[in-house]
Amino acid sequence: MKVEAVKAGGSVRVPYPPFDILVAWVDGVAFAIEDACNHAGASLAEGWLEASCVVCPMHGYVFDLKSGKLLRPKGLCGDQRTYRARVEGDEVVVYDDFVLTVG
Ligand code: FES
Repeated sequence: MKVEAVKAGGSVRVPYPPFDILVAWVDGVAFAIEDACNHAGASLAEGWLEASCVVCPMHGYVFDLKSGKLLRPKGLCGDQRTYRARVEGDEVVVYDDFVLTVG
């Protein structure tokens, strides 16, 4: 996807069947994290960013965008899977075992 698309909204939900991935832009860095919250499945893309974290819209759990770790409340659900995201030219590229999204 285009960098400008992520920058404009701060985050974008990207389909990655059978999942979705949230791609976020914080202080010039792209992050990619599993979109479905491990607590009860809400879309993190419908939540909001706080510094380098995403807050789930359903119960307010806070996940670190880089590590996927649940920061608050501690231990009430698992961590989110994260993916490596890089800016290449004017595009954000998300890597799993292979290149997921280019342009
Ligand atoms: S579904 Fe995300 S915190 Fe409950």
